[in-house]
Amino acid sequence: MPRTRKHPTEKDALSLLKEDHRKVSGLFYPAFRDATEKAEDRKLYFEAQEEHHVVDTVLPELKSADPASETFAAKAKVLKDLVEHHAEEEETEMFPRARKLLGRGELVRLGEELAQAKVSLTERVLTKLVELVRP
Ligand SMILES: [Fe+2]
Repeated sequence: MPRTRKHPTEKDALSLLKEDHRKVSGLFYPAFRDATEKAEDRKLYFEAQEEHHVVDTVLPELKSADPASETFAAKAKVLKDLVEHHAEEEETEMFPRARKLLGRGELVRLGEELAQAKVSLTERVLTKLVELVRP
């Protein structure tokens, strides 16, 4: 049975979240990759990068799909499951490994860059969201 039509701003919000994650990952992932030595850490890194790639591939398809279609619902469900899995692995596996692999100086530097990125991203996202809901 077809789903009811979704509000178009949901797609915009999804794109914003992806863009934010890409920017934060752009700071964290190279530092993690450069610090890895063990095969299991490199496996974590490459699998997570592939998950980013799948999101990059499926999201444009989702954006062009009819929100009322069963295809849209299936793509959205698979994407949601993947993103939840990905976020859990980053939080429970990669971040704890990064704490052990990266030196204190590198962690402090990375933390400062992430804090700066988060502030600027939050302001930009809030501005965009206000634009989206403005009549
Ligand atoms: Fe990620």
